Formats: sequence, C-alpha cells, structure tokens
Amino acid sequence: MDLDETIQQLQQQCDEALLAVSTPQDMEEVQIRFLGRKGLIRELFSKLGALSDSEKRHYGEAINQLKNTIESKINQKNESLLATSQTSSASQSFDYSLPGFPYSIGKKHPFTLICEELYRIFRSMNFMVVEDREIEDEYHNFDALNIPKWHPSRKRNDTFFLTDGSVLRTHTSPVEIRTMEQLTPPIRMVTIGGRCYRRDASDATHSAVFHQIEGLVVEENINFCHLSAILSEMMKGVFGKPVEVRFVPSYFPFVEPGAETLISCPFCKSNGCSVCKNSGWIELGGSGMTHPQVLRNVNIDPTKYQGFAFGWGVERLAMIKYGIDDIRLFFENNLSFLEQF
Ligand code: DAH
Repeated sequence: MDLDETIQQLQQQCDEALLAVSTPQDMEEVQIRFLGRKGLIRELFSKLGALSDSEKRHYGEAINQLKNTIESKINQKNESLLATSQTSSASQSFDYSLPGFPYSIGKKHPFTLICEELYRIFRSMNFMVVEDREIEDEYHNFDALNIPKWHPSRKRNDTFFLTDGSVLRTHTSPVEIRTMEQLTPPIRMVTIGGRCYRRDASDATHSAVFHQIEGLVVEENINFCHLSAILSEMMKGVFGKPVEVRFVPSYFPFVEPGAETLISCPFCKSNGCSVCKNSGWIELGGSGMTHPQVLRNVNIDPTKYQGFAFGWGVERLAMIKYGIDDIRLFFENNLSFLEQF
C-alpha cells in the first residue's frame, strides 16, 4: 500500500472516530490513538526512514499536514464537547440504564382489612352499620348499661374523665343504648371498629386506645341460639371456614346470662398450637342476652322483646387472624410490618 493512500485512510479513520466521540473518555482515546507517542501518526513518520531524500521531503510534509489537520479537528471536537456538556450537563450525566428508584405502592392497614371483612359479613346478614361518639356521658357509658356506681371500671384510674365529667368511652356498648333510644325493635345493628379508651399501660396485648366491634339484636323471641348462630357465621366469614363457638359463663352487668366467647382454634383444629396456647380454644370477648333492666332503661318492654349483644376487640381479632403478636404494631406506622399485608 503506498503512503498517499495510507495518509488518506488515516484522515478518514480520524474523521469517523471523531464522529463517534460522545464523552471526554472517548476523546482521550482518539487523541492517544492518533497523536500519542505510539500513535498512528508517529508510526507513519517512522516509515520515512526507508525512503529516498526527495520522497522523505514530500511525505514528511504531507504527514505533517495530516498531523496538523487531525490536531485542529480534535481541538474543535474538544471545544464542542465542552460546550454541550456545559449546556446540558444534567441530561449528559443521566444514565438511562440505571434502575429506577424503588417505591412501594400503598396497602391497606390490617385494621382496615379486618373492618372491611366484618362490614361485608354483617351487611350480608342484614345488620344496620352504625357509628357514634367517642366522648360519652356517664349515663350512656355506664348507668344505662346497668353498671353500678361501685363498679371498678368507673374508677378514675381505669377511665379517662374529661373536666366536664364526660368520659372517653371505655367500650362500644353505649352505641347499643343510643341505637335503642332512637329505634324501635326489630333492631339488628353493629358498630365496627369503634375507638375506645382505657387507662391501661401499653404492652403486647394492651393499648390505651383500641377498637371494638359491638353487635345488638332486639326482636321478639330472641334466644341464646340466635346469638350462637350469628357469632358462628361471623367467625366463618373471618377465618374462611367453619369454627365452633363455645360460651363460658361470665359477668357483665348489661347481659344476663353473660358469657365469655371462645372459638375452636382455626389453626390447629383444636389439637393445640401457639395461637391457642395449646388449649384448642381462643377467647374472643363478651356476649350475652341483653339484661331486662337495660331494655327498660330505653323504654323497650322486656316481656315482649329480647335481645342479645356482643362486644369484642377488633385488634385482637386481627391479631389472631393475621398472626400478629403485639397490639402496638397497629399504631406504630412501621412500614416493614404494614408491607406484610
Ligand atoms: N362492653 C364489654 C367490654 O368492653 C364487652 C361486652 C360484653 C359487650 C358482653 C357486650 C356483651 O355486648 O354482651 O368489656
């Protein structure tokens, strides 16, 4: 290959290389490849030694010219590279191949999930869903519910009293009273996730703020079997399969008979596991037949109508359903907890 052709090719190669340059690194590589100590121009000069004097002069000049052109083209390119990097440094430095910032899509709180589930279940059984106030008077929170003046739950170290003598409701049972005051039987109502307050020190199973679900049915010829059937249906809805409901006699001033309600452990078929503490049964909360005095307090004739009621902690229910071992997690906005649902 003669030198004229090589010179021409080199010029062309340099033009192409410069066209492909887009970063300062590319630029440096081109510079080294053509103008470096071991670069292509140097290599060309070294070929002169084998030529005659007149050829040396001719080609020496031609190679020098090539070198100058390449140098000025590289300088030009360098300047335009600098200019674009200054005007659009943001877009120049943006690496489109980098993964995006991770962000998490919002999820429903486990408390919301269980409330929605309970809402669905009770609507399907034709219950009216009601809500009422969190600041109650003593009458609705205690007296109307047949809770005697001496009852320990009325003590100031159990209940939050406001300066005007009203209380932050300690349970959702006053909603039963308010509903019966407003409606005449038949009544079939439920309040879901009503906020309640007690002066409890918080630990894994206690919180000064918590929520209850309270149900009430008042109709003619209502008996304990109806209570049992409604609670069985509710539990079937919550756990997605039939569970047994069991009643253990217990005392609540507003029901007679009153009971602590238990269900067969849905996780171990009553063989014993950590959720039911090897007993096969899980305690859920109070229930019973509405006390005749409570009905009289709201002008309902207990010889004509009977009622049943239940009131349970919603967090407790969610803890059992979702295997949550600390009630405080419901209130802490801990993302790694909330993302599990
Ligand atoms: N109100 C009671 C409490 O918070 C729970 C309760 C017990 C509600 C028996 C009821 C019931 O409706 O029948 O401790």
